[in-house]
Amino acid sequence: EKVSLSVIKADIGGFVGHSTVHPELVIKAKEELTKSGILIDFFVGTVGDDINLIMTHTLGVDHGEIHKLAWNTFLACTEVAKKLKLYGAGQDLLSDAFSGNVKGMGPGVAEMEFEERKSEPVIVFMADKTEPGAWNLPLYKMFADPFNTIGLVIDPKMHGGFLFEVHDLIHHKKVIFQCPEEIYDLLVFIGAPGHYCIKSVYTKEGEVAATSSTQRLNLMAGRYIGKDDPVCIVRCQNGLPAVGEALEPFAYPHLVAGWMRGSHVGPLMPVAMKDAVPSRFDGPPRAVALGFQLADGKLIGPQDFFADVSFNEARNTANQIANYVRRMGPFEPHRLPLNEMEYTTLPDVMKKLKDRFQEL
Ligand code: 13P
Ligand code: 13P
Ligand code: MG
Ligand code: MG
Ligand code: MG
Repeated sequence: EKVSLSVIKADIGGFVGHSTVHPELVIKAKEELTKSGILIDFFVGTVGDDINLIMTHTLGVDHGEIHKLAWNTFLACTEVAKKLKLYGAGQDLLSDAFSGNVKGMGPGVAEMEFEERKSEPVIVFMADKTEPGAWNLPLYKMFADPFNTIGLVIDPKMHGGFLFEVHDLIHHKKVIFQCPEEIYDLLVFIGAPGHYCIKSVYTKEGEVAATSSTQRLNLMAGRYIGKDDPVCIVRCQNGLPAVGEALEPFAYPHLVAGWMRGSHVGPLMPVAMKDAVPSRFDGPPRAVALGFQLADGKLIGPQDFFADVSFNEARNTANQIANYVRRMGPFEPHRLPLNEMEYTTLPDVMKKLKDRFQEL
């Protein structure tokens, strides 16, 4: 029988401001998932102010019962958040009426279904203060860059490369690239992570290897309500990137969009779950990597990978980059370009000043 791994996440109230999840919300989420009866296993992860429900089951992807469970769990947590008057209680729940699928309703979703292998190591990457395209560069390195993943060169099972499914988040289209044959074409698109996102990676035989959340909350809501703080699941070993190859891209804290008010560029800092407390200018953006061995759907773990001292230098570098870019204040490219800010004050300022603009 196939097993499904679903990660559904939402910010339903920050403690304090946008920095973390209050422990009472985690307790409530665990309570709700425990009594559900439809899961094989679960783990409630947090990164910054986002709750990530990591769930295994046999119902397949996009299943109404799983989505309803996640939605109701977030609603129950929202009640707690309201009682504690946490910041932005219910922030990512865009609708009062659940319609069977959480997609398009606020929460981020990454799900995959597969035949559990003899040994099934998976990593759940969770980020805060950034957007789904933040995974483009690391996923490219894991599955297409031999300078990151030596397995692409020396493992006969990986040497044929992988398929990349890329989504156009603005025009709602998708395209699949064969790699390494089409890496230059692929890079034209995924180099624009606010527009094109790697949704999934497959083996050339069509087996799912990685999948990410690609919801753009601010586009769905029609007004600015923060970035979409993405998740990504990566299966590892035995024809897929080794665990260390999947973690290696994060030794370089690349620049991503997000940070303060979702309107800045900053380095993605890899941290342990307990250190995912974005505070400086509400950041810098964080990534957490939780490793699990699946055993008949049971989540054996987590192993909190970025707690390892080998990521200390990446954190130092990220702090140095933060010092450097923060000095630009409200200037691009630290602050995002205007087209990324259309749900902020720009339309109002434009309206107010429209009669003052004269022909040159
Ligand atoms: P093992 O020999 O421990 O299985 O290691 C192989 C591997 O994947 C190392 O990256
Ligand atoms: P979140 O998306 O994590 O809630 O962050 C919003 C924000 O404005 C941080 O400054
Ligand atoms: Mg928040
Ligand atoms: Mg958040
Ligand atoms: Mg958010």
